[in-house]
Amino acid sequence: MLFPWVCLLLGLLGLAAATEDRHTNNWAVLVCASRYWFNYRHMANTLAMYRTIKRLGIPDSNIILMLADDVACNARNVFPATVYANKDRHLDLYGDNVEVDYRGYEVTVENFLRLMTGRLSDNVPPNKRLLSDASSNVFVYLTGHGGNEFLKFQDNEEMSAFDIADAVEQMWEKKRYNKLLFMIDTCQANTMYSQFYSPNVIATGSSELGENSLSHHNDMDIGVAVIDSFTHFVLEYIEPLNKTSRNTLQNLFDTYDYDKIHSTAGVSSHLSTTPPSEILITDFFGGVAGVEVEQPATAPEGDVAIGAGWESSEGAFHRQDSARTFRKIATTETAGLPFTPTSSTPIRGILGAAVLVGAAALAFSHSR
Ligand SMILES: *[C@@H]1O[C@H](CO)[C@@H](O)[C@H](O)[C@H]1NC(C)=O
Repeated sequence: MLFPWVCLLLGLLGLAAATEDRHTNNWAVLVCASRYWFNYRHMANTLAMYRTIKRLGIPDSNIILMLADDVACNARNVFPATVYANKDRHLDLYGDNVEVDYRGYEVTVENFLRLMTGRLSDNVPPNKRLLSDASSNVFVYLTGHGGNEFLKFQDNEEMSAFDIADAVEQMWEKKRYNKLLFMIDTCQANTMYSQFYSPNVIATGSSELGENSLSHHNDMDIGVAVIDSFTHFVLEYIEPLNKTSRNTLQNLFDTYDYDKIHSTAGVSSHLSTTPPSEILITDFFGGVAGVEVEQPATAPEGDVAIGAGWESSEGAFHRQDSARTFRKIATTETAGLPFTPTSSTPIRGILGAAVLVGAAALAFSHSR
């Protein structure tokens, strides 16, 4: 008599397991493959993604951040020690809570591939290691300058679509992921995931073969483009979500719109046994939490700007097909900066000067 009940119970358990993702931990590898001031937006893309996954619960210990990190303290930054990616600069992405794991010239193709495949020497510290296992969901985000089946690293070397595909296969063989989400924002981005052949990989990119990815808008005071269009709209979609969200990857992919992004964002899910409509966004952008998290009485600082962080703003769109083209555009933009009516700095400057002159005159007349 007991037997059918046991069968039923096992069946139910099986069913539950089939509908729930089986990962027990989350990891993320965020890579900004560019350096130099005029690539500000690639740094900002990466830091904005970093902020979002931390907000949704992936701890710093499970995030490997690869970033040239040369814009916040760049001599050309008129807002020192900050990185902004949004309208009116109301949300500083740099803050004092950013842990960069591979910095400056450490951001190389070799280091990235070694990190992914776990081929690191014994003396490499834990913060430079992807310590994922067969029950980890791994989110990989890359941004920089790319082309057909390659991504440039710091204007110095290239990683090919075959390199990354083989690295992912090694990860699969070494049981370093349960599911892997690959996201890339660069020119001809979708070609970078064209060679994947390993199971349980979902990939998405900003533009198809022969197409550029565009920046979203310029900040006239910073003097450069501050975020790329694809990343901007992905983050805008995720911004209102919290850890309990049931929204799926398919919901996100359905928002891809050529008229907004100005390039053909792509999705590849044929390698995944689970369709994106059954994978939660928080399965990759959030951390597994075994405990209930109570909201503090006062919202932490990072949450203040939620919802307002990624509002769209009117902005010029620029090609990012090559650094050289962009540099030309950036120079013209910067050259026109003091005469731009939208910039409030000259007005503030004039008012400030008037106040100073007034005060000086007052002091002078009193001293006589
Ligand atoms: C998460 O978002 C949902 C839907 O917007 C909301 O109902 C819920 O209260 C939020 N939970 C927390 C902990 O903020």
